[in-house]
Amino acid sequence: MTDDKKNQLSRRQLLKTGVGLLGATVAAETKIFASGEIPATPFPAQSESMIGVKFDKRDTVRLGVIGVGGRGTGMLSNFLAIPNVQVNAICDLVREKAVHAQDLTEKAGGKRPEIYTSGDHDYENLCKRDDLDFIYIATPWDWHAPMAVAAMTSGKHTGLEVPAVNTLEECQKLVDTSEKTRRHCMIMENCCYGFNELMVLNMIRAGLFGDLLHGEAAYIHDLRGEIFSDKGEGLWRRVPHTTRNGNVYPTHGLGPVANYMGINRGDRFDYLVSMSSPQKGFDAYRAAKIPKDSPKWREKYVLGDMNTSLIKTAGGLTIMLQHDVSNPRPYDRINLISGVKAVFRDYPERIYVDGQPGEEAFTGIEAYREKYGHKLWKEQGQTAENRGHGGMDYLMLYRLVQCMREGLEPDMDVYDAASWSAPAALSEKSVAQESAPVKFPDFTRGRWKQRNGASQ
Ligand SMILES: NC(=O)c1ccc[n+]([C@@H]2O[C@H](COP(=O)([O-])OP(=O)(O)OC[C@H]3O[C@@H](n4cnc5c(N)ncnc54)[C@H](O)[C@@H]3O)[C@@H](O)[C@H]2O)c1
Repeated sequence: MTDDKKNQLSRRQLLKTGVGLLGATVAAETKIFASGEIPATPFPAQSESMIGVKFDKRDTVRLGVIGVGGRGTGMLSNFLAIPNVQVNAICDLVREKAVHAQDLTEKAGGKRPEIYTSGDHDYENLCKRDDLDFIYIATPWDWHAPMAVAAMTSGKHTGLEVPAVNTLEECQKLVDTSEKTRRHCMIMENCCYGFNELMVLNMIRAGLFGDLLHGEAAYIHDLRGEIFSDKGEGLWRRVPHTTRNGNVYPTHGLGPVANYMGINRGDRFDYLVSMSSPQKGFDAYRAAKIPKDSPKWREKYVLGDMNTSLIKTAGGLTIMLQHDVSNPRPYDRINLISGVKAVFRDYPERIYVDGQPGEEAFTGIEAYREKYGHKLWKEQGQTAENRGHGGMDYLMLYRLVQCMREGLEPDMDVYDAASWSAPAALSEKSVAQESAPVKFPDFTRGRWKQRNGASQ
């Protein structure tokens, strides 16, 4: 029996004997984690790691897209603006959306792609085509894992919209499948390509912050209108609010902070504690806006409005991570990083560097933009900025195509997809257990120690 199993067994036996008080003391002393059944140590390797695995070089990136709703259509337009991308296949449940995507492709000068619109599982037929290199997936969250697995199993690299997946089991499935099929499974975390995020990454690399200590990340976005609408995300995104309680959308703020800290590249997320505020925002919005005869009145919302989690890394750094999409608050990903020499905080952007002139007050970032602005922004910033979401969507896709054409490793791999998405499931577990600490599985199977720094 492994030591982990022995520990779980002895804890179970202890609890069974009813020595509650003793159990509490032992739990405190031996740091027993809430996720007893999830292996916190590396799970057994199925195959070789995907860390550092480069794409095969190719001139043209042949693309399939699954899901052309709001996000998929926007991203398709960006893909179509990038040279050397050929869109060969589109899938969506709704035929009109797929036809619209065909029209967009043709209008952009491409050949009319084939469409797959015959029900929930027609994406499997798209995956089987032999003229695709990469399949981009922008469907509701519950579809992400089976679609990515189908794409990789059919020999295609894939990219999942955020969050990559919902559960720890799905996280592990992505990793296992990517390793077994030798296909990349990327998380398409566009916020990692924001101007400030890439500039701060450069500043950290240049040593401006000294040793890092703490980061703060969030997705605070008033989505009440979208989530209560009768189209797009309104058709599926209230469901998690009726079944889950935690941070169900963790990666927009967390991805960039993970890059700053070298997560999966010299450090890794170790454990998390989480708590949720009461749920009030959706009830208040529904009472104000939704007619009393709407079926939405039969829903019961259980996801606490503001979820706050704290993550400790193996290297001892700390991260505060928040989620609130249910209340009237200005948009905020926080995007804070602090070290022994400096602190940066976004929304609005500001920096304080030890010894800077004046009082202990933040200044703007103008003085740093030119020196530390990322080369991707220097080269492609103008094109990107005209293309929505502040340019980060275009830049992410541009960089993906660059990596695939030049035979580089992707900036964000399956280990990032799993560990940046895992706080969703882990925060739910912690919240359900009065904020007990919950271990992150080591999705890299111990290999996080072997590489350094983000690739961008
Ligand atoms: N990175 C970002 O900034 C960002 C922004 C918005 C949304 N997203 C993510 O993008 C994804 C899609 O969100 P959205 O806003 O486009 O939602 P949406 O509801 O507008 O689009 C989802 C599309 O998927 C299609 N679909 C559903 N099940 C399908 C199936 N089995 N086969 C084929 N098609 C299917 C729907 O018909 C719909 O057109 C989500 O994961 C979301 O979290 C990311």
